[in-house]
Amino acid sequence: MPSFGDFVHTQFFLKIPTPTASFGSKTIIITGASGGLGKEAAKHIVRLGASSVILGCRSLSRGNATKREIEARLRCSPSILQVWELDIESPTSVKRFVDRANALPRLDVLINNAGLQSQKFTVVYNTERTIAVNVIGTFLLALQLLPKLRETARNYRTTPHLTFVGSALYDVARWPNHPGEDIFAWFEDKAHFSAINQYNLSKLLQMYAVIQLSTIVDPVGSTANPNPIVINSLDPCFCKTGLPGNDLSIPLKVALRVFELTARSAEEGASLVVQTASAGRETHGLYMRAGKVRKYDPIVQDAKKAAYIWELLCKKLEGLQPGILQNLR
Ligand SMILES: NC(=O)c1ccc[n+]([C@@H]2O[C@H](COP(=O)([O-])OP(=O)(O)OC[C@H]3O[C@@H](n4cnc5c(N)ncnc54)[C@H](OP(=O)(O)O)[C@@H]3O)[C@@H](O)[C@H]2O)c1
Repeated sequence: MPSFGDFVHTQFFLKIPTPTASFGSKTIIITGASGGLGKEAAKHIVRLGASSVILGCRSLSRGNATKREIEARLRCSPSILQVWELDIESPTSVKRFVDRANALPRLDVLINNAGLQSQKFTVVYNTERTIAVNVIGTFLLALQLLPKLRETARNYRTTPHLTFVGSALYDVARWPNHPGEDIFAWFEDKAHFSAINQYNLSKLLQMYAVIQLSTIVDPVGSTANPNPIVINSLDPCFCKTGLPGNDLSIPLKVALRVFELTARSAEEGASLVVQTASAGRETHGLYMRAGKVRKYDPIVQDAKKAAYIWELLCKKLEGLQPGILQNLR
């Protein structure tokens, strides 16, 4: 969690520049793009000249409404934005999405933005839903699109981006005392559910996985691949979006309304997303906050926990989509 001073700075004083990097001739996928940060990121990227922007949305009707809104606002060609159905809680939906993406001529950027903060206990992928979506489903998609990003790097001699929208709350995550051999299975038990901690922990687990992935794929210092990709993550600041959901208790709703007085707009948060999704190779494996690479907190540098999560995640992903780990080679 950022210190109070850091929070005040990023929420009130930090000047967030509108992104300017060109996305000319590029193809970009943004997940969870029907609202919030995803929608605003799509606006920036269309404005920055992308050839094709694919909005991965759970609801096609909400996605199409977003497409129409962006087209009306930016007066862009209707051929730039496409809305594809994507529910990262469903391996079938993810696979269908991946098959479509594999048929694209190129894929330059995958922004893993879809996420949630569930207030109610539900089980998905044999674990609690927030963790299922923010970690398992997110990597189920990312690992299946890795070959397409690498192919684009080779064929177009470019530097594709695999960017994860994380959260600064990762460092207040409470690691369970005895999660046993499988932390995902441990969270199948409702007694272990704590709405606030699930979200923070999901972002910590996501971060472990981003770091592990970036040490396997085009690691820093390796010259084996002349066209490496960038894998990075960020915190977009606290922004007013749909993230808290509609299931909050009345006291929490009131507290949120007050806290939202400190929130940035989704457009500002999305500027940081887009900045990270166009940052250089020097950000590979790293985490950005407020426009700068930030040092990882000590909990993220816990190699034992990171290896434990990565091993479990790989096992889960292989179970959901056999053969997926071959994409890491
Ligand atoms: N807002 C903040 O202050 C903040 C701070 C730090 C990090 N973040 C992160 O930023 C990302 C975007 O969140 P947001 O703030 O823009 O919230 P949001 O408005 O709720 O957007 C989240 C998006 O994720 C989608 N999504 C949720 N579950 C999904 C699933 N199973 N399959 C596909 N899409 C799914 C949602 O789709 P539906 O529209 O269908 O629900 C929605 O479009 C999240 O990863 C969040 O953790 C946000």
